[in-house]
Amino acid sequence: MHQRILVLDLGSRFTQLIARQVRGAGVYAQILPVTNMAAVNQSLAQPGLAGIILSGSDALDDAADAPSVPSVVFDARVPMLGIGYGMHAMALHYGGQVTLNANLVAQTGISSVSGKQLAATVRARGHTKLLDGIQDRSNQAGHGLLDVSLAAVGCVTQLPPGFVRMASTELCDIAGMADQERARYGAQFHPEVAGTTQGNRIVHRFVRELCGCTGDWNMPDYVEESVAAIRNQVGDDTIILGLSGGVDSSVAAALIHRAIGKQLVCVFVDHGLLRLNEAEQVLDMMGDHLGINIVHVDASDQFMQHLTSVTDPEAKRKIIGREFIEVFQEQASKISDARWLAQGTIYPDVIESAASGSGKAVAVKSHHNVGGLPDTLNLKLLEPLRDLFKDEVRELGISLGLPPAMVHRHPFPGPGLGVRILGEVRRDYADTLRRADAIFIEELHNTLDPDRNQSWYELTSQAFAVFLPVSSVGVTDGGRRYEPVIALRAVETTDFMSARWARLPYELLERVSTRIISEVGGVSRVVYDISGKPPATIEWE
Ligand code: XMP
Repeated sequence: MHQRILVLDLGSRFTQLIARQVRGAGVYAQILPVTNMAAVNQSLAQPGLAGIILSGSDALDDAADAPSVPSVVFDARVPMLGIGYGMHAMALHYGGQVTLNANLVAQTGISSVSGKQLAATVRARGHTKLLDGIQDRSNQAGHGLLDVSLAAVGCVTQLPPGFVRMASTELCDIAGMADQERARYGAQFHPEVAGTTQGNRIVHRFVRELCGCTGDWNMPDYVEESVAAIRNQVGDDTIILGLSGGVDSSVAAALIHRAIGKQLVCVFVDHGLLRLNEAEQVLDMMGDHLGINIVHVDASDQFMQHLTSVTDPEAKRKIIGREFIEVFQEQASKISDARWLAQGTIYPDVIESAASGSGKAVAVKSHHNVGGLPDTLNLKLLEPLRDLFKDEVRELGISLGLPPAMVHRHPFPGPGLGVRILGEVRRDYADTLRRADAIFIEELHNTLDPDRNQSWYELTSQAFAVFLPVSSVGVTDGGRRYEPVIALRAVETTDFMSARWARLPYELLERVSTRIISEVGGVSRVVYDISGKPPATIEWE
């Protein structure tokens, strides 16, 4: 059993960042929403609890839906850190006072703190154990200063008995507080947000020194633990897994294969909407190299047939999902001794489905991952990655011997090129798009940003080409042609919930455009998408 930090989510969009930071310090972090007190109570009672972090909240302190933290949480005899709203909840519980910063609210007319992170400098005070010796610089009087990100809409205006001021700033006089006897710490600023430059050190200090965690969470050990757990769980049973070629299902397959070898059968469904040479690469790497048992089904005719004349994006997604399930089920039924279905579900999926159960998540698109298979298969579910964040899955993949290029591949949606060909999906469109996309990706790999010494593929989070079936004029050899357009999309993001269009160098864009028009053929022009998310989504459909 690992030592564990409970991250109590009070409704902040930064909660996952807190958990990532704790994991980065080598400690297992578990996120639970304060709305699910049954699970929270269970966690409080389970052995291994080493500390609690109260997240911030997107709610204003005086809002009708502002969450409260039940006393039972504060009764836990482990160190606690409250961040932003979490600090306010702590202050109120122990008898302090919180006041809305009326000027700031009036000036901005804001109704939520989430968009109000400000850059500020706080002065560390009192030499508390949390901040002692951690600073960005000091002022002339020798006081330690920290550059931070905070939302100063509400502030603690009176310390609870037993607490001392740990930090202060112009916006909030009490920007941090501590009761070191009871190991209770509060920070108005957000160590998990990039603007707080010492954030990692502060969280490391909290979990490793104040909570006393030894750092027993790392991916090489996780391989051994997980292999033992899988063997124990499935015994001699056969497991099937839908391999998509994406990072999650590939790492899940490699891990399960390490545990039970040939008892794992992977089904790889080619819907005809994969990237250039993708099927060959998956079969080479996972099949030939790792020796995983793979059933390869080329179902592209069936998918294309059902997609004929369908133009509505959601309808296309549904058809691709439905056909996938049908093909997969047919293959699964041939593996008659299968008892388990393995899936590459990862921790953010688990957290998000819990959040959607509480009505928080807003569905913009039906992001059903191809692989969301029905109960009718009558198989038990094995999800060996359900505790891991994406970067941990990547580290695990490396520990399992998968090539870095594979585990660092950009995400690719389940419906594949189906949502990157606008309107009707046709095989000839898919062929054109595949080739254009491959050129774009190749150039991103081959172009280095000299300042950062990384390729533009590494510097972007997701990049791809989109097929626009609009006729635009092109002139070659004196003749006019009316041909479709290729759009290029490249974004930088950490959470994929918001994204910035990548400032790719003009020379790179020019090379890609020239190559696509001359090498792919049948494309009249290439355009670059300069829309951020929001309002635009990353995919075009
Ligand atoms: P959007 O387009 O909503 O995408 O900004 C955010 C992330 O989700 C991926 N995406 C999908 N993934 N099935 C998937 O498995 C889908 O239907 C789907 N739609 C979007 C998208 O590629 C991006 O990484």
